[in-house]
Amino acid sequence: MQNNKKIIYLIISLVLVLIFSFTLIVSCRATKKVNGITAPSEAISTERIKLPEPGHDSPTSIEQALLKRRSVRDYKDEPLTLAELSQLLWAAQGITDRRGFRAAPSAGALYPLEVYVVAGNVSNLPSGIYKYKPHEHELEKILEGDKRAKLCIAALGQSSVKDGAIAIVFSAVYERTTQKYGERGIRYVHMEVGHAAQNVYLQAVSLNLGTVVIGAFQDDAVRMIINMPDEENPLYIMPIGRK
Ligand SMILES: Cc1cc2nc3c(=O)[nH]c(=O)nc-3n(C[C@H](O)[C@H](O)[C@H](O)COP(=O)(O)O)c2cc1C
Repeated sequence: MQNNKKIIYLIISLVLVLIFSFTLIVSCRATKKVNGITAPSEAISTERIKLPEPGHDSPTSIEQALLKRRSVRDYKDEPLTLAELSQLLWAAQGITDRRGFRAAPSAGALYPLEVYVVAGNVSNLPSGIYKYKPHEHELEKILEGDKRAKLCIAALGQSSVKDGAIAIVFSAVYERTTQKYGERGIRYVHMEVGHAAQNVYLQAVSLNLGTVVIGAFQDDAVRMIINMPDEENPLYIMPIGRK
C-alpha cells in the first residue's frame, strides 16, 4: 500500500515536470528577443497570391538603365502596384527558361537564394511579409502586418528601409551550393546575390522607381522579423519606392 502511494506520487511529479518544461519551451519561443526586437509569435499561414504576368519589353534600353542607375534612399509616400512588384521579383529570381533557369545566373544552377517582400504600401496587397515562389510566380504569405519600421531598426535605423513602399530581402541557403563546391561555394553565393540585386536595380530604373542595396543590418534581428528558417542567412535588403 505504502509502495503504491510512492509510485503514484512519482508519476504525478513526473507529469508536473513534463508540463512545466513544455510550457517553458513554448513561452521562450514566443518571446525570443534580439536587441529589443521580439520574434513574431503569429501563426504561419500558407496563403498564396498569384502575381500578374511580368512584361518582357519596355521603352528603357539596357544602356539607359545602366546610365541612370543610382542608389536612391528617399521615396514618395505612394503605393506600388502589384504589376510593379511582379516585375521586380521576376527580375530578381524569375524563371526565364523552360528548363528552370532564372533571370540571374547561379553556380551549378543550384539557386541558393530566397526572396522575401516586406510589403507596407502596395495596392491590392495587404501589408505583411511574403516569400516569392519563382516557379509559380506567386507570393506565399508568411506574416501579416506592416513590418517596415521593425526592419528599419534591424538595419541600424536606416530610414530608407521604413520609407520604401516595400523592401525586398534576399537570403541564402549556403548548403545548396557548398554541398557541390565546398568552401568556394560561399563566395559563389555572395556573387549571386550581387547579380540578383543588380537586376532589381536595373528593373527599378526601367519602372522609374528608386532602390538601394543595404548590407548594414543585424542578421539575427532580420531573421527574427521575417521568421526565416534556421538554414537561411539574410544577405541584402532593398527598399523600393517611387522617386
Ligand atoms: C555590398 C554593399 C553594401 C551596401 N550597403 C549599404 C547600406 O547599408 N546602406 C546604404 O544606404 N547603401 C549601401 N550601399 C550602397 C552604396 O552606398 C552605393 O552603391 C554607393 O554609394 C555608390 O552609389 P550608386 O549605387 O548610386 O552608384 C551598399 C552597396 C554595396 C555594394
